[in-house]
Amino acid sequence: MSHQAQSPQPGRRPGAHAAEPAPETAVESVPSSHEESWAANKYMTDDRPIAADTAAPGCRKRDPILIASNVTRTYGGINAVDVEHVEIPRNKITALIGPNGAGKTTLFNLLTGFDTPQSGEWRFEDRDLAGVSAYKVARLGMVRTFQLTKVMGKLTVLENMRLGANEQPGEALRRALFRPLWKKRENEITEQADALLAKFKLDTKRSDYAASLSGGQRKLLEMARALMVNPKLVMLDEPMAGVNPALTQSLLDHIKNLKAEGMTVLFVEHDMHMVRHIADWVIVMAEGKVVAEGPPGEVMKDQAVIDAYLGAHHDVDLGDSEGFEKLEAVLEKDPESDIQGGESLAPVIIEERKDTA
Ligand SMILES: Nc1ncnc2c1ncn2[C@@H]1O[C@H](COP(=O)(O)OP(=O)(O)OP(=O)(O)O)[C@@H](O)[C@H]1O
Ligand SMILES: [Mg+2]
Repeated sequence: MSHQAQSPQPGRRPGAHAAEPAPETAVESVPSSHEESWAANKYMTDDRPIAADTAAPGCRKRDPILIASNVTRTYGGINAVDVEHVEIPRNKITALIGPNGAGKTTLFNLLTGFDTPQSGEWRFEDRDLAGVSAYKVARLGMVRTFQLTKVMGKLTVLENMRLGANEQPGEALRRALFRPLWKKRENEITEQADALLAKFKLDTKRSDYAASLSGGQRKLLEMARALMVNPKLVMLDEPMAGVNPALTQSLLDHIKNLKAEGMTVLFVEHDMHMVRHIADWVIVMAEGKVVAEGPPGEVMKDQAVIDAYLGAHHDVDLGDSEGFEKLEAVLEKDPESDIQGGESLAPVIIEERKDTA
């Protein structure tokens, strides 16, 4: 079973690591029919409280889709993940944030069956997922994309999409010999793939090798492929990393559309600008643990979040643009500041300054 956790990357700016082999074009958001917009309205306007009680690390949710308890994973002496309790709210967009090496990708790997924890239990839609393999987890409706995209470069875009589908009778050796037994299903899969490719504006690339796509287009292809199983929960590991700004808005729209269509989204992201704009709920990890959670505006002001991102620089309010200026002033004077070396908060400051300019 493949395992994809990355080592922390000090100094890495979100979005800086993926190559951009081809130019990208902006794409407008997905149109919706009358029925779709009625359904979207239902999910987009639901403003009932997300937490069952006070927002705090590990708090119970009014309607959780995924519940994990006591999940631990160590590497050597390092507690990569040590989560006592976490619940993901249904039909919401939840951002999982935290500094490099906090354990976000490892938690994704554990929950989706790409890695095995030392201990813990987790339930998706009330089904125990411990020991369930990654492909079965996807079939149950919980799919994920990877921090570093995993498209098959030597297959075409359409072939990549087909690989994402459930129930492929033609894969069974004996049935593969009898075309009528699988042809109908294959046609259905192709139809579904074409519809998704059109939605993600990748239809013109249908017959191209996936290797020819730009970094952003690969992210879109991975997201589109994940949707081939009609998932209930979509987990995106840094969907914006390496994406050309021309595609950023389109990706944001796609993520919002997943929610509008009734899916639940959990995404890892370093870009606080994006988190503040699309997340209904934010969970913060540091050193393997959940250290804070709540609505975006409130979480950014939480002392535990500030500590996790800033270490010694405690007196700055991440929810307040004045705070960023104050922080910048502190950092300029501090020759030992991690942030000066391009640490994880630097892009946040840059984004915020653009925002408030
Ligand atoms: N395969 C592995 N072998 C050894 N250590 C690992 C492995 N995968 C992850 N780790 C360690 O586990 C910790 C958590 O890593 P993880 O990749 O989950 O962090 P992350 O929050 O996703 O970070 P980033 O924001 O940089 O992607 C780090 O200390 C990392 O070095
Ligand atoms: Mg990661």
